[in-house]
Amino acid sequence: MLSKEDNTLLTQVSRGTPMGNLLREYWMPILFSDELTAGGRTMKGKLLGEDLVAFRDSSGRPGLIEANCPHRGAPLYFGRNENDGIRCVYHGWMYDVTGACVDMPNEPAHSNFKDKVKLNAYKLRERNGLIWAYLGPRKTPPELPDLEFNVLPPEHTLIWKNMQMTNWVQGLEGNIDSSHLSFLHTRLERDGNAEFGGGGARGLWYEDPAPRMEVTDTDFGVMYGAGRLEESDRRFWRVTQFMMPFYGLFAPIGPNECPMQWWIPLDDHTVMKWDVRWNPNRPITEEERGRLMSPDPGGFIEPTSDPYTHYRLAANMDNDYFTNWDAQGDKRYSGVPSANLQDAAVQEGMGPIVNREREHLGTADAMIIRTRRRLLEAMKALRDHGTVPPGVDDPTVYGIRSTTVVLSDAESWQSVASPLLKAFTDEKIMAADITMRTPRA
Ligand code: FES
Ligand SMILES: [Fe+2]
Repeated sequence: MLSKEDNTLLTQVSRGTPMGNLLREYWMPILFSDELTAGGRTMKGKLLGEDLVAFRDSSGRPGLIEANCPHRGAPLYFGRNENDGIRCVYHGWMYDVTGACVDMPNEPAHSNFKDKVKLNAYKLRERNGLIWAYLGPRKTPPELPDLEFNVLPPEHTLIWKNMQMTNWVQGLEGNIDSSHLSFLHTRLERDGNAEFGGGGARGLWYEDPAPRMEVTDTDFGVMYGAGRLEESDRRFWRVTQFMMPFYGLFAPIGPNECPMQWWIPLDDHTVMKWDVRWNPNRPITEEERGRLMSPDPGGFIEPTSDPYTHYRLAANMDNDYFTNWDAQGDKRYSGVPSANLQDAAVQEGMGPIVNREREHLGTADAMIIRTRRRLLEAMKALRDHGTVPPGVDDPTVYGIRSTTVVLSDAESWQSVASPLLKAFTDEKIMAADITMRTPRA
């Protein structure tokens, strides 16, 4: 459980809140590069509770600005994307991507009033098809994190996203919860779980639904091993990480298929979930792209200018996420038709912000407990002492991978796994042989 006060601190992200301030210390991946066209139309956006407008100027520079004109508040969403700036359609004031007012045509020509007006504009960086935003206080922002996928050529990566109508922490906590794999995502035919690789392919999600949980703090956040008994003295360890402040890795899906997700809060009740797969050694093939990124049943709703319609799944609470109740009998544990929708169904169904005072956390929740504590500690250290949060000034701590290993109980997963967890190496990410094993009867 968490006190009401700590739950509020953990979940609220608007400007001026302690968690809002913590998140603003970090770069956030927010858009695909191709969502903005040079000289093209603007786009409304939400980020950390702020109403924003994104555009790409005629020189190709991306811009992210406050939604309303500092003159008299007209919506810049209707702005004209002219030469290297966005022009408010109400009285023609024009701003560049840095927020400088560069033209004020309704004031006398000799007036220097425009030099005194500044629009709130955020720093952006673009790399490998992603646009990153920095909403923090520094004039010179930190470096982008050295996440392996973000340094590899784009052909080595596969990225997609969808919106979830829930607080960002609920999503993140699903990311670092090995325990639910034995239930929510399982198929009832025992050999039907190979699609998830690793422990699923080995039949272990059934055979040991109560993995041994071992959690450790790191310089990037928190890491844990979830060890499922495979033989009487051998365990299959799934070693995954939480990286500050919103990244969650999960176990490799196949040899050298590294996965991660991140959770960007649009506001306190809405989050954009991003999924990444990367292969450190070679481009991802078309066959792999199809297999790894199968669309959810129903796809997305038709987007409008409303940012809450962007990448929003058609399956939702109102249509029971297209649950097939009959499938609960002999096919799927939940009856919800895809892993992504299964996660959405339980996370959105908790309500926009789950009441953590009412929880009953057990040993299976050790990673969740430690991750909350880490976030709260970093947030309070920043609030009370101005302490720079973990990873902000050390992008190299993000150079890690997840892994799986099979070990006897005499061996420690921390020491065996550690070479496999380093990014930018030739180490195979999965030491375990994941070929299908015949599940015990
Ligand atoms: S409100 Fe934008 S120029 Fe007047
Ligand atoms: Fe899940």
